[in-house]
Order: sequence, then C-alpha cells, then structure tokens
Amino acid sequence: MSRRSGLVVVGSVVAVSVALAACKGDAPAPGGRAQPASDAPAAPVAPAPSSAPDAAAVARGKQATGELKRRLITRLTEAMQVGTPEAIEVCNTQAPEIAAAVSTGGVTVGRATRKPRNPANLADGWQAEALASFEARVAAGDGLDGASWSAAGPGGTTRYAEPLVIQPVCTVCHGDAIARDVQAALAARYPDDQATGYRVGELRGLVWAEVAAAP
Ligand code: HEC
Repeated sequence: MSRRSGLVVVGSVVAVSVALAACKGDAPAPGGRAQPASDAPAAPVAPAPSSAPDAAAVARGKQATGELKRRLITRLTEAMQVGTPEAIEVCNTQAPEIAAAVSTGGVTVGRATRKPRNPANLADGWQAEALASFEARVAAGDGLDGASWSAAGPGGTTRYAEPLVIQPVCTVCHGDAIARDVQAALAARYPDDQATGYRVGELRGLVWAEVAAAP
C-alpha cells in the first residue's frame, strides 16, 4: 500500500529526474541550455510517464543488481584474503569490469553514492531520486531491509535500485579508522576520495539497473 503511493510520487518526479540527467554532460548541447528550474509545480511539463513500472522489467533489474552485488562481494572477499591494499587494486580495476559484464541484454547496472570514491559513481538524476527515497526511509526510522525503488523511465525504460548498507567488512576501506597502508593505497588512486567515515548500518549508496524497453 505505502509502496504504491510511493511509486505515484516517484512517477511525478520522473520529469525532474530526466531534466537532471540531461545536465549530466559537462558541455551543454549546442543552442540548448538546461531549462531553469521552475518553482511552479503545476506548470505544464512534458508528459511524465505516470504508469507504474513494468513488473517484468523490475524483476530483471532486481536480478541484475543481485548478480552485480554477488560478483562484487565474491571478488572482494577473495582479494581481501591476499591483503586490503591488493583488494583496493581489484576494486579499482574490476568493479567497472564486473558492472560492464553484468550489463547485458538491455540491462545496464552500476553503483552510485552521494560521497563517491570514484567520481564516476556520483549519484545524479534518477539515481539521486532513488537515494533520496532511501534516505527518507532512514530519516523516518524505517529500516532499509528489503527496500527497493523503481520507476518508469522515458522511452519505455524501467529504473530499479536497491540500497547498499555498510557492513563490518566495508569499514576496512570506508570506515573512520582506516589502517595506514590502506589509506596510502586509497590516496594513491583516489585523491578526491569522499567515501570514508562510515559506520556499520549506514546507507552507503545504491546499486541501480536501467532496463531497456522490451523489443
Ligand atoms: C578493499 C577495500 C574495500 C572494501 C572492503 C569495500 N570497498 Fe567499496 N570501494 C572500494 C574502492 C577502491 C572503490 C572504488 C571502485 C571504483 O573505482 O569504481 C569502492 C567503491 C564503492 C562504491 C561505489 C561508489 C564509490 O564511492 O565509488 C560503493 C557503493 C561501495 N564501494 C560500497 C561498499 C560496501 C557496501 C562495502 C562492504 C560490503 C565495500 N564497499 C567494501 C574499496 C572497498
């Protein structure tokens, strides 16, 4: 019930998400600048897809994000048996490769956060909307267990996300007491690292999937 009403709200912000996503590139399209944000919520805007997201596409998104999480944690666990600095190397090179490998059959997956280690993972557009919905759950005192977010996107696409929560193992590289050699390995690769200082149970970010329209 609450899930359904949540989706209605989500549907109404899709147009905003699209506008934000369109700003993602550094250079504005020739002759076209992003529209100034309007304060008038009732102003006519491009027809936002108000339909609920397609259930089969949501299931595919869920399957793909599950696969991404499984592969990442498997690879991370293996690499940490060698050593944490070595595991950082693995995350650096293999996290993007794993995401690319799982992105098949019209589904694209990735991770996003407000405090990125890799700047490519900064949440914006609809990913920031999804994150906001998880943050609202936390602020309301609801847990994140089993939480997910989905919405119909433009062109028949479906968007899906699940929260990523800090577990004890994550604090080795994302916590507030990071070992010196780990700090050094992080600083060497991520001079603008924002992804530290987390405590167990905190929302770290999300895994997302964008599912293309069925052919
Ligand atoms: C061995 C160190 C290490 C551990 C342990 C670790 N991470 Fe990371 N994490 C990294 C590195 C390195 C990156 C950047 C990867 C890249 O360049 O794409 C990263 C990136 C991320 C991102 C993508 C957003 C960003 O900041 O770039 C998320 C989300 C994330 N980690 C969550 C977790 C969670 C949840 C855990 C625990 C299950 C965890 N990490 C454990 C090293 C680690």
